[in-house]
Amino acid sequence: MIDDVVKLFKELDSKDLRILTGIEISMKDFEWVPVEELMKYTRLPYSSLEYKLKSLIRNNMVIGTNQPYEGYQIYFDGYDALALNTLVKRGTIIAIGDEIGVGKESVVHEAVKEPALGLGEPQGVILKFHREGRTSFKSVKRSRSHLDGKEHFSWIYAARLAAKREAEVIRNLYPDVSVPKLLDNNRHALVMDVAEGTLLYRTKLSEPQWFLDEILRQVAIVYEKGYIHSDLSEYNIFVNDGLVQFIDWPQCVETSHPHADELLERDVSNVLKHFKRKYNINRDLGEVISLIKSGVES
Ligand SMILES: Nc1ncnc2c1ncn2[C@@H]1O[C@H](COP(=O)(O)OP(=O)(O)OP(=O)(O)O)[C@@H](O)[C@H]1O
Ligand SMILES: [Mg+2]
Repeated sequence: MIDDVVKLFKELDSKDLRILTGIEISMKDFEWVPVEELMKYTRLPYSSLEYKLKSLIRNNMVIGTNQPYEGYQIYFDGYDALALNTLVKRGTIIAIGDEIGVGKESVVHEAVKEPALGLGEPQGVILKFHREGRTSFKSVKRSRSHLDGKEHFSWIYAARLAAKREAEVIRNLYPDVSVPKLLDNNRHALVMDVAEGTLLYRTKLSEPQWFLDEILRQVAIVYEKGYIHSDLSEYNIFVNDGLVQFIDWPQCVETSHPHADELLERDVSNVLKHFKRKYNINRDLGEVISLIKSGVES
C-alpha cells in the first residue's frame, strides 16, 4: 500500500511540483498555459523546463499543445499528485492504497492515516478525487451551478468547486446526520472516514422495515438542516448493523432551491422503489414526503 506514495514522490522532485503548481495557478487565466508563463513562474531555463515537461506528459500529469502556441494544461494524475502532496505534508494521510471505486464524477481510493496519538495500527480512510469535467464540456456545463458564473473555467476549477461544495455540506451535516466524518479537503480531493458496512444495493437486509424507517428519518434530518441530497439511491447509502450512512454529496441543494420539491421527491422515490422491488414494502410517496417536510422524524 505504502509503495504508491513512495513511488509517486520518487518520480516527482521539487521542480516537477513547481511546474505543476505553475500550470495550476496559470490555468485561472489561460486555457493552455504558455510556456513563457511557466518559465517566468519556475525560473527554469527553457531546455530543462522542456525536459521536465516531456516526462510529466509521459506520466499523464500534463498535456501539451503546439497550436496556436506552445501551451500546457495539468492533467488528472498531476492534479491528484499536487493534492496528495499537500495532504501528506499536512499529515492528513501517510499512504494511498488501491482504487476502490470509479464513479461518474470521481475516483475513490483507500488511504491510510496515522493512528491517533501515534498509538496502535494505522487507520484506513477514504480519499476521493473529484473528476467533474472529465467526460466532456457538456458535463462541466451540467455542474454550472457550482461555477459562480465565471466565464473562463477548466476542469480543475469544476472539480475543485464540486469538492468544496461536498466538503461544506458534509461539515454542516456531521454529526447530526449519519455521514462519514470529513477529515480534510484540498483542491479536488476529500479525505473522510470509511463508511461502515456495504452499499444498500449489494446486500439483502434481514430487517428491511427498520432500515427504510432509518433512511427516511435521516432524509428528514437532512431536510431540517436545510438540504436535499439530490442523488440519493441504493448506490449512495451504506448499511450496517443498526446504522445507515449517506455518501456522495456534491450535488446536494438547499431546501430553498427552485426544484427542491422535485429533487426531494426523486430521492425519496428512489428509496421507496428499491424497498418495493427488493422487499415488497409499500409506502405512499406523498405521505412520506409530507412527514419529512413537517419535520416529523418517522
Ligand atoms: N466514505 C466512504 N466509505 C466507503 N466507500 C466509499 C466512501 N465514499 C465513496 N466510497 C466508494 O466509492 C464509490 C464512489 O463514491 P461516490 O458515490 O461518492 O462518488 P461518485 O463519483 O459520485 O459515484 P457515482 O457516480 O457512482 O455515484 C462509492 O460507490 C463507494 O463504493
Ligand atoms: Mg455515488
